[in-house]
Amino acid sequence: MRTVGNRGPATLENYDFIEKISHFDRERIPERVVHARGAGAHGYFETYGTAGNDPVSKYTRAKIFQDKGKQTPVFVRFSSVIHGGHSPETLRDPRGFAVKFYTEDGNWDLVGNNLKIFFIRDAIKFPDMVHAFKPDPVTNIQDGERFFDFCSNSPESFHMVTFLYSPWGIPANYRMMQGSGVNTYKWVNQSGEAVLVKYHWEPKQGIKNLTQKEAGEIQASNFNHATQDLYQAIERGDYPEWELLVQLMSDDEHPELDFDPLDDTKLWPEDQFPWLPVGKMVLNRNPEDYFTEVEQAAFGTGVLVDGLDFSDDKMLQGRTFSYSDTQRHRVGANYLQLPINAPKKHVATNQSGGQMQYRLDRAPGQNPHINYEPSTLGGLREAERSGTEYTPLIEGKLVRETIERHNNTKQAGDTYRKFEEWERAELISNLVGDLAPSDKRIQDKMIALAEEADEEYGRRLRDGLAHAFQGGSSQKPLGNKDGDKAPEQAVRKGHEAEPY
Ligand code: HEM
Repeated sequence: MRTVGNRGPATLENYDFIEKISHFDRERIPERVVHARGAGAHGYFETYGTAGNDPVSKYTRAKIFQDKGKQTPVFVRFSSVIHGGHSPETLRDPRGFAVKFYTEDGNWDLVGNNLKIFFIRDAIKFPDMVHAFKPDPVTNIQDGERFFDFCSNSPESFHMVTFLYSPWGIPANYRMMQGSGVNTYKWVNQSGEAVLVKYHWEPKQGIKNLTQKEAGEIQASNFNHATQDLYQAIERGDYPEWELLVQLMSDDEHPELDFDPLDDTKLWPEDQFPWLPVGKMVLNRNPEDYFTEVEQAAFGTGVLVDGLDFSDDKMLQGRTFSYSDTQRHRVGANYLQLPINAPKKHVATNQSGGQMQYRLDRAPGQNPHINYEPSTLGGLREAERSGTEYTPLIEGKLVRETIERHNNTKQAGDTYRKFEEWERAELISNLVGDLAPSDKRIQDKMIALAEEADEEYGRRLRDGLAHAFQGGSSQKPLGNKDGDKAPEQAVRKGHEAEPY
């Protein structure tokens, strides 16, 4: 630091100092509003060229899936959802599983989670859901009562709550968890015909989940264990691998099913809609710089390529608006120009300007004066379509209504019965831990949902709550039964010291 004499004061002409500190003052960008804590890695996707026994081209013309053995580079970001950028990786929370495929037709982002379903099915509820799950606006502490206040009044969440409060709510790490696209998408073939599709990632490493107690023990010694596990596995050449499987369904309402195929709170039963392997993904390179690659990575459900499409799932449409919107806020208007987000295939557009524009998306030989279309003077022309356009017929009244087939608890009951006994015991113990200090009306609503799902599930939750101490505080990380004792423990265990 340049100063008047070596004891100071400093002066304002101290340009090197001012530059360094002002850059430091701006080292952070806004944190993701959800999924702030994450880890990423590079790798590749290799297609099998088939979907089960059929050539994949029967269902989709997306180039990434054609030609068995073809590899496409990918970048993956795993995350937890609710807490901030350096929060513990042992929390009871869904895990994000976002994959960016740098395909020969531009980028495709498959922005999924580890669990295969979701809490809500209408995008307008998402901000309320996130507010209820995030720390209380007054105390800044996560609160099980607020979580269950929202969930008990949103019965469509019960299936997801059943997974989240079981050991499936704390995956052992990122390598040993599944992934899922969750929402229903479409595949479109060369003739412009579409099918509904759900995506699943299955880890070759196997699946491992933790009990609440085991997670607490790991967290006591290290709260970054999942990031460390992923980084170290790749460093030692033990590359994690997932197989990508799809479930397909014809694109209609399927009145024969007791759920709506567009309802993201439901699983598609595997016996009716078999999982068809379509390729595998290997992660084999760590990021060189966390901020450049992982923090600035921007995924979005709208980022699709030819042969892939949206379904009419209204959650998906809500998401599709939200992602690119938040990234213009979080990373900036030209976030797609950053190397981690830019397609490897050259893309030409007439978009220009905005903060931090680094280059123009011009085509080779394009007349630089012509930044509009149409023109006869050497500007851009629309790319030719590779197949028959998919033109679904959409008509109906504009309404504010929920979907017809709610069936909120049946699959939760199926899931409960499929759990092993230790998973059921964990589920009940974790639910009781958070519900016991909650308002009695919320407890009753949750018991009613459990009873509707499965007689035994309801009975065990009711009994558990009847025998639990009903006092205490619900202000603690989700599922931590004795978490509210932490402030008192710290006072009791703390060692006295004299001021110095
Ligand atoms: C309407 C419902 C939803 C809305 C509005 C929404 C919105 C958001 C927003 C604003 C972000 C932060 C993105 C960023 O700053 O880069 C985000 C991240 C994320 N969301 Fe959602 N989300 C919704 C539902 C879901 C669902 C159902 C899933 C699972 C399939 C999901 C998976 C993710 C993942 C994995 C990330 C982190 C992406 C990354 O690693 O950068 N979200 N979401």
